[in-house]
Amino acid sequence: MSNAKSNQMWGGRFEEKPSNIMEQINASIGVDQRLWRQDITGSKAHAAMLAKQGIITKEDEKAIQEGLDQVAQEIQNGELEFTAALEDIHMNVESRLKEIIGEAAGRLHTGRSRNDQVATDFRMWVRDACTDLAGVIDTFTATLDRLIEKHADDVMPGFTHLQAAQPVTLGKHLLAYKEMMSRDKGRILDCRARVNECPLGAAALAGTPYPIDRKFTAKQLGFDRPMPSTLDAVSARDFANEFLFACAQCGLHLSRLAEEIIIWATPQFGYINLSDAWSTGSSIMPQKKNPDAAELVRGKTGRLNGNLVQMMTVMKGLPLAYNKDMQEDKESTFDSFDTLRLCLEAMNGMLDSAKFNAPRMLESAELGFTTATALADWLVMELNLPFREAHHVTGAIVKMAEDKGCKLDELALSDMQAVNNAITDDIFRVLSVK
Ligand code: ARG
Repeated sequence: MSNAKSNQMWGGRFEEKPSNIMEQINASIGVDQRLWRQDITGSKAHAAMLAKQGIITKEDEKAIQEGLDQVAQEIQNGELEFTAALEDIHMNVESRLKEIIGEAAGRLHTGRSRNDQVATDFRMWVRDACTDLAGVIDTFTATLDRLIEKHADDVMPGFTHLQAAQPVTLGKHLLAYKEMMSRDKGRILDCRARVNECPLGAAALAGTPYPIDRKFTAKQLGFDRPMPSTLDAVSARDFANEFLFACAQCGLHLSRLAEEIIIWATPQFGYINLSDAWSTGSSIMPQKKNPDAAELVRGKTGRLNGNLVQMMTVMKGLPLAYNKDMQEDKESTFDSFDTLRLCLEAMNGMLDSAKFNAPRMLESAELGFTTATALADWLVMELNLPFREAHHVTGAIVKMAEDKGCKLDELALSDMQAVNNAITDDIFRVLSVK
């Protein structure tokens, strides 16, 4: 990035150019160049509105539209060299437009400020990011659906405290994650609904004296409406916080599943066998196959949470309206999007290609007397015992099985009748995990 130019956009009252360090702390182009499409789309809608309202001439508008198309082409082709001296994407685009079309470029910024411009660009970006993530969640959910169906009858232990608790099936276990993903998608779409209103027309903060048409630009850009408060329009970033939270929460859910995969992939559990494409080896221990992708999904939760805290902290205590602090809003948002997208894709690939070991899961569901609760429930439902007493009777039966070193369904009926003589052989219906 060249530092050749001093700022032509606001340099009118300035005699000196900014110090190098000032330029470094001030420039956001390294990050916000990612908004170039939104910036050009927003400017094209703004120029069309200015011409429609007679604020600029049709000829100037035509030059601006064509010039902006050319700038877009150049950026797309990687031909435009961005400059830190021009601070951000907005001024880099406008400066290039001026080189291409001359004078008329200076009319584009009529009735607009970078404050409403950046808020508009960023809202469009977050809106598209929400749509994109909802689609990636759908893909992952489809994989979960397939596994839920496939393993509907594969018994595994359900856990509390990571201790075998009651038998469930793998399908039932995975259904929990499907539900989490469904809520995460809902949160992302809620965020999209709230982000989708248009700041344009707020200008710096107080609005603008030109006879602009805010409804026109809002509609052109696919927003639901212009934002009613101009001060709010330029200074609200709760949409970014909300997006960051939705990403962090979804990442947290993935991290819980990642943790289970890591545990299940140990030889001690042996419930899951990850494909080679989704594992790595050890450079010293030849026998190892490590679930690195799952560990990284778990580890990246740190970033997602950190990004949320970063942005919440930036916004805390900022007086109305725009403050430059807010320029710190994009890096974390872009990072959370990239990170969550990658994690969703990794989880999808990992699970889609994994093999579950159903016999091993069944065998482990049979350890730890996981049907003891079913036994207690049978005593309540069939013998009408109070649950507390049933719990007590069951405890004695479990103790007996433990002493004999057998499973509950391997006890003799007479053994159980010694604890409670009303027990019948109907009890065996509930004692096996199947
Ligand atoms: N690059 C700035 C940002 O991202 C654009 C807005 C600058 N506004 C200003 N008043 N200096 O926030």
